[in-house]
Amino acid sequence: MRFGGRVNENRAAGLRSGYLQAQFTPLVAMLVALGTATIVGVGGYVAAGNPFTAGPFQLLPGTIDAGLIISFLFYLKLLYQPFRDLSKLTNLANAASAGAERIQEVLDQAPEVIESTTPYPGPTKLRGDIVFENVYFGYSPERPVLKGINLTIPTGKKVAFVGLSGGGKTTLVKLIPRFYEIQWGAVRVDGVDNRMYPLKVLRQNVSMVLQDSVLFEGTIRENIEVGRPGASDSDIIEAAKKAQMHETIMSLPDGYNTIVREQGKNFSGGQRQRLAIARAILRDASILILDEPTASLDVEAEAEVMRALDTLIVGRTVIVISHRLSTLGNVDEIIVLNDGRIVEKGTYQELKRLGGVFTGMLEEQNRYSAERVAERVGDKSILRSAFVPSPAGNEPWQAQPAPIAQQNWHAVAAPQNRPAVPAPEPESLPLAPVRADSPGGNGVRQAPQRARVRIEVDGKVIGVRKLDKPVLTIGRLSSNDVLVPSQRVSRMHARILWENGMWLIEDADSLNGIAYQGRRVDRHVLSNGDKIFLAPDSTLFYETM
Ligand SMILES: Nc1ncnc2c1ncn2[C@@H]1O[C@H](COP(=O)(O)OP(=O)(O)O)[C@@H](O)[C@H]1O
Ligand SMILES: [Mg+2]
Repeated sequence: MRFGGRVNENRAAGLRSGYLQAQFTPLVAMLVALGTATIVGVGGYVAAGNPFTAGPFQLLPGTIDAGLIISFLFYLKLLYQPFRDLSKLTNLANAASAGAERIQEVLDQAPEVIESTTPYPGPTKLRGDIVFENVYFGYSPERPVLKGINLTIPTGKKVAFVGLSGGGKTTLVKLIPRFYEIQWGAVRVDGVDNRMYPLKVLRQNVSMVLQDSVLFEGTIRENIEVGRPGASDSDIIEAAKKAQMHETIMSLPDGYNTIVREQGKNFSGGQRQRLAIARAILRDASILILDEPTASLDVEAEAEVMRALDTLIVGRTVIVISHRLSTLGNVDEIIVLNDGRIVEKGTYQELKRLGGVFTGMLEEQNRYSAERVAERVGDKSILRSAFVPSPAGNEPWQAQPAPIAQQNWHAVAAPQNRPAVPAPEPESLPLAPVRADSPGGNGVRQAPQRARVRIEVDGKVIGVRKLDKPVLTIGRLSSNDVLVPSQRVSRMHARILWENGMWLIEDADSLNGIAYQGRRVDRHVLSNGDKIFLAPDSTLFYETM
């Protein structure tokens, strides 16, 4: 809203300056014309042999001839131009000084991490052996996000981090290139505390491919070259080939010199990711971090990106964060993170047999797969969202099943146009078996707030859904708990969760996001009367009961 205010101010100022300029420019032109006319008139008059007197100024007859008048006019014209430029220069100077102030503000920011001052004599190419030692970290010290992480990832191993969103997976991987300073413990790379490396050395040994890759304005070549500044053309082309991107690039009119517009908006999501992979291939770092690199892609784009990734992961230490559990059969170890702690780890098979959190997540995803298959999306469909039951036995759902689960609330999420798909109905609540020593759970023993959402499409209420499970999914497909039948709503758009004693709504796989009070939000804690926009014509109205 502050931004909106500034934009309005800027527009008003722009209009006013346009208005002044519109008045000013003709005025100046008129003065110039008048001045010229006066000079020609008076000059001609005197040149013709007449005397001219204006106050103290006196021109005697015959002192001016036609040549003098013409050269005077010529010099005068030369004088006008710099004056005109000067007026423009003030504008420019004002804008530049405002810009310089902003730049200074950014430069004055304290760095998040401090470079080590001890000289570093070691190798600049690291092997990629990673150890987390009792790591505690919070973005603000009083709210820890990671609570005692102990983990060893030997050189060349491929591990996966899984778990509910908000569990700290992304935070954990960001600590390896030292994007943040940990509050306790140590992160070691090749046995050396990562605070001992110069940041440049540390970071050139880590490549990341994230959910949405950042592209810069510039050519494709420059965007790939970011991976290793100064790389040769043939290296860049080689990297693009391995990233399955060379052909796409060559089909563009300007090839590698095609301009990438801001944030790469002239490229599709899959192409952006493949450019990012080309960058990572070029960088050739020993540690590779993949943070849900295919999460925002459709099935075909995903297949291409996965192929490019296959080349990239060879011979490196790889950490992959993924919600698609079915793709994790080949990783060496799966680590389940929940609420900032490692709650399970092992191979896919081990975890599957364990009957713990991971098993619960798998079952949940299989249930959704089944529904997707029924909808003929095919079993290659991506299941990125961790629609996972709460893991620990001390959740309110399990402690007190009576008030919610047994009340026969009939959910009426717009049943009228449900397609006749034989989707297996979910059991009332999928309860994951839990190991006795599982440290999960957040200990909030509070009965969930009784609440419901009213579904409105095109201004009409088309259904009401009681919040009767810990996780309710929202979307256009009938497999969702809250069905919002609008083309502008994504298949799996968002979800509502009971977390830490609050109902909250969070974006899932939506294309256009969710908005509250005109602002796009990723997560929003619901309070009575809140209206959440899934699309301009589709809203959810939250009310407590
Ligand atoms: N830049 C940040 N500043 C403050 N809090 C953050 C930031 N990034 C993430 N968090 C918080 O840290 C927690 C863990 O987030 P994240 O590491 O992104 O989890 P995951 O990747 O498992 O979904 C969340 O509660 C999130 O709100
Ligand atoms: Mg994340």
